[in-house]
Amino acid sequence: MTKARIAILISGTGTNMAALLYAAKHPSCPYEIILVASNNSDAEGLKLAAAEGIATFAQPHQHLDRAVHDAMMHDRIVHAGATHVALAGYMRILSEAFVQKWEGRMLNVHPSLLPKYKGLHTHQRAIDAGDSHGGCSVHLVTAELDDGPVLGQMQVAILPGDTADTLAERVKLAEHQLYPRILAEYVSRDSDPAWLVQQVRERAMAQPEADEVTSHGMPCFGITGAKKFAYVSVDHHGDGKTALLVKISGAEEQAMLIDSDEDRYYRPAYFGDGWIGIRLDLGDTDWDHIGEWLAKSWLAVAPKKLTKLMDVAGEF
Ligand code: GRF
Repeated sequence: MTKARIAILISGTGTNMAALLYAAKHPSCPYEIILVASNNSDAEGLKLAAAEGIATFAQPHQHLDRAVHDAMMHDRIVHAGATHVALAGYMRILSEAFVQKWEGRMLNVHPSLLPKYKGLHTHQRAIDAGDSHGGCSVHLVTAELDDGPVLGQMQVAILPGDTADTLAERVKLAEHQLYPRILAEYVSRDSDPAWLVQQVRERAMAQPEADEVTSHGMPCFGITGAKKFAYVSVDHHGDGKTALLVKISGAEEQAMLIDSDEDRYYRPAYFGDGWIGIRLDLGDTDWDHIGEWLAKSWLAVAPKKLTKLMDVAGEF
């Protein structure tokens, strides 16, 4: 198993960093921590990381333009060979350029049940609102503060007499459970057939009158009562691949695709010239593109009756 290489960014105590770091010590953990970086040279977490043999880096942000500071952090992270960034109490708003560079590969932990209570003082706000639960969220980082897609959450009961501090303490315990697990799930999902099949399923079933059956052990998508337009091949004859099979125009297109990227495209055994295999497990799948492939394949098998109906609908 190739492990994901995580750079953690911290500003303070770094208890979440410690949780990630100790989770990563387990041999089955799908990630390793390769760098702990901070905007604060005195961050407690840096000392622990160094004592645990992890490379550390501190670059104070004072007197530096945000973009310049972010670029310095980015360079070090890239230089360390990170595949992902985990923010763990990193108290800096990141520039759009930095966020863009790590889009889809940067996670954060936030001490509230998002979308509730973005920003600071989350525990007091939950108590003041009379909520029964606080909690924490792990989310992907986007340009908007604490706004990216939520990957996982854990609720924490608010007790009578809780103060922001006592609640924060218990939420931290929850964070320490949640963050390592969600990060592990996230970095593994590109090679998790169940997750890959689900991505195809959502896009295939969005096609008009689509249905799903199992054919030769493969999830297979068709138009109800008509032909099949997509199969997902999972470890077919032990080939270890997860791939989408869709309709194409014929041998010429098949050869052209394979020629353009022979790691990704292949001729699926037993399917002939009218189909192409597209690997889904290479870690860089463009899911919008997969959606387009499915729509095209659907169109190739859709009965005239159905496409005509759609043309008519399109006119209104
Ligand atoms: C955590 O509460 C986290 O949710 C927030 O910052 C805090 C960091 O704490 N983003 P620590 O430094 O990991 O102890």
